[in-house]
Amino acid sequence: MSNDDSRQVNGPDGTPEPYADDSHASSVEPHESHVPAHREADPIPDPGLPAHTWRPTDVDPRLEKRAERQIAAMFIAAMLSAVLFVVAYFTLDIGDNWTTFAGMGASTIALGLTLGTSLLLIGIGIIHLARKLMADAEMVEMRHPAASPVEDREATVKALQDGIEESGIGRRPLVRNTMIGAVGVLGLPAVVLLRDLAPGDALDTSKLAHTIWEPGMRLVRDVVGTPILASEIEMGDLINAAPEAMFPTEENGYPELEGAEEQAEKAKGAIIIVRMNPDDLTPATRPDKWTVDGIICYSKICTHVGCPISLYERTTHHVLCPCHQSTFDLADGAKVVFGPAARPLPQLPLAVDDEGYLVAQSDFNEPIGASYWEREKHK
Ligand code: FES
Repeated sequence: MSNDDSRQVNGPDGTPEPYADDSHASSVEPHESHVPAHREADPIPDPGLPAHTWRPTDVDPRLEKRAERQIAAMFIAAMLSAVLFVVAYFTLDIGDNWTTFAGMGASTIALGLTLGTSLLLIGIGIIHLARKLMADAEMVEMRHPAASPVEDREATVKALQDGIEESGIGRRPLVRNTMIGAVGVLGLPAVVLLRDLAPGDALDTSKLAHTIWEPGMRLVRDVVGTPILASEIEMGDLINAAPEAMFPTEENGYPELEGAEEQAEKAKGAIIIVRMNPDDLTPATRPDKWTVDGIICYSKICTHVGCPISLYERTTHHVLCPCHQSTFDLADGAKVVFGPAARPLPQLPLAVDDEGYLVAQSDFNEPIGASYWEREKHK
């Protein structure tokens, strides 16, 4: 069937009727350049549209009038409901002397019901209007190729070439080359300005590489700051902890930190401590040197983009980052077993002091947090 054939409907009496007026169709005529030249050779014939079935309201004026009245009735009821909303708003009390209905605020119920009913009736009325009375005709609209017509593209290229010719750039290589250079070098100020987005000492990457942990510093619980006895950690336990320096006292002598520096050190020094069967630890954890009776400590900061982690599954020794599901095996040097993180969690080598409290042997074994340029240099 040709394209013209498909733009037909059968009239109520069954005879085919081409679309003759705009009330029934607004088909877009295909541009000549958009009509494929090989259409005649299509191996599969166009089946066209199925025969049109007229609705009862299209063929029976009595039913059409009735549908019209039904729809109008819904719109009138919607208007009444909206008016009742305003009446309820002004007549029903709220506040200290509620007007109640079945023990509930009558105002709330009335306002909700009237407004809801009004909106519902308008919606149903519009649906009925579309289904029963609006024009019911199939339309065919050609799908145009996304590319512009050939003549438009040629005209654009010609306009560009004319512009270059008129500007004289092609004949003056000195001007052309210096102009290209000037525009290219304009990128340099942008690079310098980007540096201003970071703190003044942004190029000092050693700040990223080191944390406040130092040899002999106690591990303390992260909220209350109490030191942690190795003997009090249960098998399978996970404890969120912090450096003792974040809880300075006269006794421990650590200096008081404030503001951004305090927040930065607190974030960088955050740790998780777990205890597991020492036999489960692989050599990657340095069990003979960096752990205490199966107690092992890692940075709490995910090596993907730095979320804090602590979703621990004790049977598998896996800890999960909630941000993008990176999963680390704490028994195996916190190696990545799943997810986008590219490297293990840094480990904090542990020891116990004379009183049996857990202390750090040093800073983390490598820089914490998300990877960054020059990280390898600080290992
Ligand atoms: S920050 Fe942990 S997986 Fe992305």
